[in-house]
Amino acid sequence: MTFEQPMAVGIDRMAWYTPNRFLDLDDLAQARGVDPDKFRIGIGQRRMAVPTLDQDIVAMGANAAEGMLNDIDKRRIGLLIVATESSVDQSKASALFVQDVLGLGGDMRAIEIKEACYGGTAGVQLAADFVRSHPQRTALVIATDIARYGLRTGGEVTQGAGAVAMLIGPNPSIMALEPESVYHSTSTDDFWRPNYATEALAKGKYSEQVYLRLFSDLWQEAGRQGLTRAESLQAMLFHIPFTKMGRKGLRSLSERVPDDVFRRLERRFEESIKHCRDVGNCYTGSLYLGLISLLEHDTTLRAGDRIGLFSYGSGSVGELFFGVLQDGFQRYLDPANSAAMLRTRQRLTMAEYEAIFEQRLVTDGSEQLLDAGDPRAKHRLVRLDAHERYYA
Ligand code: HMG
Repeated sequence: MTFEQPMAVGIDRMAWYTPNRFLDLDDLAQARGVDPDKFRIGIGQRRMAVPTLDQDIVAMGANAAEGMLNDIDKRRIGLLIVATESSVDQSKASALFVQDVLGLGGDMRAIEIKEACYGGTAGVQLAADFVRSHPQRTALVIATDIARYGLRTGGEVTQGAGAVAMLIGPNPSIMALEPESVYHSTSTDDFWRPNYATEALAKGKYSEQVYLRLFSDLWQEAGRQGLTRAESLQAMLFHIPFTKMGRKGLRSLSERVPDDVFRRLERRFEESIKHCRDVGNCYTGSLYLGLISLLEHDTTLRAGDRIGLFSYGSGSVGELFFGVLQDGFQRYLDPANSAAMLRTRQRLTMAEYEAIFEQRLVTDGSEQLLDAGDPRAKHRLVRLDAHERYYA
């Protein structure tokens, strides 16, 4: 009797986008009367991306995916998921705006997913299940968010913005996802944003505790199920609301994995946080920006290497899952583009940052024309009129 090998499913392509303006956190520290080392070392962040109004989550998501897909790829997509907690409409899925802007066909399911930062992983796992049951099709997952807290709040330094687009397909080019994972959901009030609020609310220290407890529980459960296999782990990625948070997660493994494994995970963790340190929290996309950062910066990873990923979404849902790098994965990354995207950003003054923060879209149905904030971006929100959004 012969057994068929299960088909590998995973990340076939990845690309990302972040807006072209940033605030240097030394400037923020000075303005708020804080020791800059608190932000640089205590929080572990250097800069944060600041989007203008025309770069909402639809525009950022489309900009991430643009260029990643050729015409054949576009026709094969059977599922489009936009994962976000910064949505633009209570009813219409932002995936439909993205579908239109990217010129994708109608032969697909297009939906939006929400569960705080976990939404990106919910999208990836649903997409993988979709591909397993529809092996002729692929799924496009876009994790896109704007992390906004509030001027002079504890969370202000942990803001950011960006989008990661991932094509999930059979026989993937970058990383195959192992089908087994461990996950847990429980109602928690650690971070939330009521419908009427434009800024998130957080019980900061409590949210850190919930994150760490969930990681610890999932690590233990994965060990019980024989999934951790620490010796085989080449890297461990974390959801990165700010890099110190991931570092705390990693440190919690110091007594749980052999010393040489821990040193390897520590070394690769440094590569995984490079983009996040300069972009800030991009909620749903954050874990996956860490994956891009790792693959773009680490030259020692090889096909067959196994990577652990911890996804956390406040509220709260967590999942610990694993992936295996595929032959030639390096060919599908574009480190030069990432470096250029970060290098060509404009540094804002505090006054410019606060002025952008206070800008609002009209809510009274009048017409509002939006300036093109990022000349590098192909897509943007152009206009609002009679409560409708128009993108280019
Ligand atoms: P805070 O009040 O600035 O905290 O809030 P702090 O005063 O304790 O300082 C932070 C760290 O800086 C401490 O280190 C200090 O010791 C250190 P720690 O104890 O954490 O290791 N420090 C210094 N270090 C060097 N030099 C100095 C110095 N001074 C102090 N001079 C907090 C920080 C993160 C809580 C706040 O920014 C916040 O509320 N952020 C938003 C919530 C958040 O990001 N939570 C993370 C877990 S929840 C999550 O990840 C989900 C999320 O992404 C949302 C979603 O799922 O959608 C947020």
